[in-house]
Amino acid sequence: MRIQTGVFGLDPLLGGGFLPNTINMILGSTGVGKTILSLQFILQGLKNNERCLFISFDMDKDYVIRSAESLGWNLKQDLIKIGKFFVEDIRLLNNELLNFIIKNSDGKTRIVIDSFTPLVSTLNYEMRRDVSWFFDQLRKSGTALITVEEPISGCLDEPSITIPAFLCDCLIHMKKLGYGEVLDRILRIVKHRNSWHAEGVYPYKIFKGLGIVVDSKHYIKSVRKNIKIYDILSEDEIRDISEDLRRKIELALSEGSYDEEEVRHLIRWVIECYRKFERS
Ligand SMILES: Nc1ncnc2c1ncn2[C@@H]1O[C@H](COP(=O)(O)OP(=O)(O)O)[C@@H](O)[C@H]1O
Ligand SMILES: [Mg+2]
Repeated sequence: MRIQTGVFGLDPLLGGGFLPNTINMILGSTGVGKTILSLQFILQGLKNNERCLFISFDMDKDYVIRSAESLGWNLKQDLIKIGKFFVEDIRLLNNELLNFIIKNSDGKTRIVIDSFTPLVSTLNYEMRRDVSWFFDQLRKSGTALITVEEPISGCLDEPSITIPAFLCDCLIHMKKLGYGEVLDRILRIVKHRNSWHAEGVYPYKIFKGLGIVVDSKHYIKSVRKNIKIYDILSEDEIRDISEDLRRKIELALSEGSYDEEEVRHLIRWVIECYRKFERS
């Protein structure tokens, strides 16, 4: 089962969406669209009649509702709880925040923390265990989306970034390049534990109403699912590969979606490597 992100074009790049009960981190500098993406994640939950939690340190409930309204979205619904916390009062393991999460979740709740950065801005490497413990509590409560601020300097080598990046299950990096047109905004899936994900960078745009739309059409264009290698290569080419290799290749192709040319190239390459290895 997958958790739909609510972002047009993103689910196919993640192998169908997020995995349930995971921590999904959105990294990016100010203005890339992290809050908009968080709201889309919540809206998809509301659409599916799932419980949702939106936790913020910057915006109070009215402000969150107004931000959504400015994009054409209605958050005034019973299924959502919006909590504003004052970061001065909150430490990562502070009970107030965790109690709020546990009290309002049922193990399948969509939880957004926008942003996670104030919680960990004074983090040092000794606190990795604390973050790990906090993430475990979140996973028990549902599927979490946390946003993390990238400094304007672009320096990602800070514990407040590297620790959540190491410990999360999925990391999406959003960037505003400012080159205009297609290359103005791009995103990349850095990791997706226990799942296939698309490689490469994908342009996205932000629209009122639609929110973030990821341009993955060149990716989805000619995809084939459940490809059998026989369908792609002639019997001749695969005749003398072992049953074991054939099974591995088919397993590889059972996940994700590929362009036919890409698959043909991959299979030929794998078979070639395999034969060289056999001969050596
Ligand atoms: N109606 C809109 N049309 C196009 N772009 C928009 C619209 N509303 C907001 N944006 C873009 O979204 C950005 C804000 O996104 P936001 O999610 O708040 O960023 P972050 O949370 O990463 O700082 C704005 O700087 C603007 O570029
Ligand atoms: Mg924001």
